[in-house]
Amino acid sequence: MSTATETLARAADTARLAPSVHNTQPWRWVVQGSSLSLYAVPGRQLREQDPAGRLLLVSCGAALHHARVALDASGWTYDVARSAGDGSTTADDATPLAVVHASQAGPADPGAMRRLQLLQVRRTDRRVVSDEPVSAAVREALVAAAGQEGSRLHLLTRDQVLQLAVVIEHAGDAERHDERMRAETAEWVGGDRPSGTGLPDTVIPAELPLTTVAERDFGVSGNLPAGSGHDEAAAYAVLYGDGDEPSDWLRAGEALSEIWLAATEHGAAVLPLSSPVELDFTRQALRRMLGEVGYPYLVLRLGTTDPDHAGPAHTPRLPVEQVVEILD
Ligand SMILES: Cc1cc2nc3c(=O)[nH]c(=O)nc-3n(C[C@H](O)[C@H](O)[C@H](O)COP(=O)(O)O)c2cc1C
Repeated sequence: MSTATETLARAADTARLAPSVHNTQPWRWVVQGSSLSLYAVPGRQLREQDPAGRLLLVSCGAALHHARVALDASGWTYDVARSAGDGSTTADDATPLAVVHASQAGPADPGAMRRLQLLQVRRTDRRVVSDEPVSAAVREALVAAAGQEGSRLHLLTRDQVLQLAVVIEHAGDAERHDERMRAETAEWVGGDRPSGTGLPDTVIPAELPLTTVAERDFGVSGNLPAGSGHDEAAAYAVLYGDGDEPSDWLRAGEALSEIWLAATEHGAAVLPLSSPVELDFTRQALRRMLGEVGYPYLVLRLGTTDPDHAGPAHTPRLPVEQVVEILD
């Protein structure tokens, strides 16, 4: 039987697999005895595209959820105290965003082990979606997954998808014409990425597909064959919630990870589209699309991808020694 410290260290190691904006992995973990603390790493915040730290905290929330799934699978009981946004700055590196306390070892749970395996195969797939839409039952499961983690998922109507296409085009134009944003993207995207962060060429489409809602234009061509289809069969959704504070963003990340886990279980592909939440004017436009009933955190494309062709490779991760510190 593993000790609490070993189990928590393994959970933090698993959390390296979490999705993060531009694969910045803006988190670090400290294990001490039976507690595991999650910290933001302000040095990996996108200062131009994410000045408030919204996407940084969504990313850290996804990592926290990954650690929770790993702990569920271990059989240990635990509780989580979240403190993001307690009057501290959003991306402070001295105040933990959350502290997990492990209390008691128990038998491993097969259902939770299956969820852990799903996190290990999850990845961002930027290929065009196939003609097979995500079924109504699966869409409902994804809405329920968001609700389970305290956020909400709004599936856009056909008219709203057309509005989204315009909003995304405006966000893309604004970011393309901003030299500092372009430079920031170039810092994180393209090439081999031997450092273990950022997006390598292998996961970036060789050519941007012609779709109603544009995928993010990273300004470089990768070598992922994206396919020649359209996005007719894709569904688009907005992840949103009642508040727009750091604590809401962390919870949104936990919801994103739960949604993605459910989608992976049902063979659906998720592609986050964050450019419309990065700019004030497009974020306001998204909020109006929600009827101003909540605050948007992220746009998601939901679809199924061609099962006969291998998807993109896994995106690299930072080595565990750089992310997880074990104190005596
Ligand atoms: C908050 C957030 C925002 C993201 N925004 C985008 C985006 O706008 N476009 C995109 O192609 N991928 C986006 N991604 C996906 C990341 O690039 C991806 O998670 C990361 O490169 C790690 O790769 P993986 O998900 O395959 O493990 C986003 C992910 C997160 C968590």
